[in-house]
Amino acid sequence: MWKVQLFKLNYDDRESRAVKDVVDSGWITMGEKTKEFENNFSKMLGGSNIHSVAVSNGTASLHMALLGLNIGSGDEVIIPALTFVADINVVKMVGATPVLADCSSYNNWNVSAETIKAQITHRTKAVIIVHYAGYPCEMNKIVTLCKRRGLYLIEDVAHAPGAKYKGKSCGTFGDYGCFSFFSNKNLSVGEGGMLVTKNKQLAIRAREFRSHGMSALTLDRHKGRAISYDVSNVGLNYRIDEIRSALGLVQLEKLRDANRKRGYLIDRYIKNLSSIKDISIPFQNLKNIEPVYHIFPILLSNSIDRVWLINRLREYGIQSSIHYPIFKEFTAFKNLNLNSAPIAEDIARRELTLPLYPTMSFSDVDFICNSLYEILEREEVA
Ligand SMILES: Cc1ncc(COP(=O)(O)O)c(C=O)c1O
Repeated sequence: MWKVQLFKLNYDDRESRAVKDVVDSGWITMGEKTKEFENNFSKMLGGSNIHSVAVSNGTASLHMALLGLNIGSGDEVIIPALTFVADINVVKMVGATPVLADCSSYNNWNVSAETIKAQITHRTKAVIIVHYAGYPCEMNKIVTLCKRRGLYLIEDVAHAPGAKYKGKSCGTFGDYGCFSFFSNKNLSVGEGGMLVTKNKQLAIRAREFRSHGMSALTLDRHKGRAISYDVSNVGLNYRIDEIRSALGLVQLEKLRDANRKRGYLIDRYIKNLSSIKDISIPFQNLKNIEPVYHIFPILLSNSIDRVWLINRLREYGIQSSIHYPIFKEFTAFKNLNLNSAPIAEDIARRELTLPLYPTMSFSDVDFICNSLYEILEREEVA
């Protein structure tokens, strides 16, 4: 149906073989592959003091982070106004109150220390930041702010595995880093996630929590290492399985190269789109960051009807998308009285996401840019 779709898996024989090996091994629930995936993920993040706990999805890792910090009723958690619904859902799910921090600017769509600070009250307990589209937030200022004001810091790194701020990996700045390995992510296993912390005690608690709070796993019993188990704290089943961990190991090996390819495609997009006056491109000329280009968001001028453009692109065979609709507009959050975030709300109305994936070709990018040029510069705009 599509000539260029929004996202395609970066999979080949290696992923197929990895899955077959696990199936053939006769052990598919969480086991040795998962341990290897966790260890290699910690290494990728660059530290012997980093503990990675693989879980069933990114939302589970965010939920576990809030529960691990005992955040609940009466607490406020500051989250970005421009992010995926998972961030507000987990805050609501633990009974806390979400408060929205605006984007830094029309160029940097991430939250900043200033936009977070503007929302701090005596009830604020934690801050969740998102490295939107794979561009790291200004972490030094955010870490300093959180330390000074006694706030927990959770990094939602769903868009940014492998990204760095001042040479340090995103996901290792706060109390927890929460990664998603959903199908369309830079590291993709279908459904999966990773909870990362430098605090050994939090990591031990997380390992127990993801498996009903049990002190021993099915694998331990299979290996004869345990007969029974204790449950010292309640937990849930947020386990990953060996099939997904095996996929994760292959994807992890490909990650650096795949992220680099994404960067080349973005360079091409930026060069090609500079002649279209109704399109501006965010995250330009930011310092101290090594982005990983999860998605390619553009900002349309006020005069462009976004739905019309999405439909015109569809006629050319190009899939596009929106990151993200604003929370207030979702039925579930209409009565929450969420604070306003003017820049994020304006961006949310005008943002358009164009296709991006590592196996995309330069000619795909050229085709998309030429089509946009045709539609926006040559045709009569509705
Ligand atoms: C910013 C952000 N946070 C959290 C999530 C949730 O991850 P998952 O879908 O793995 O639960 C996603 C992805 O879907 C995301 O994009």
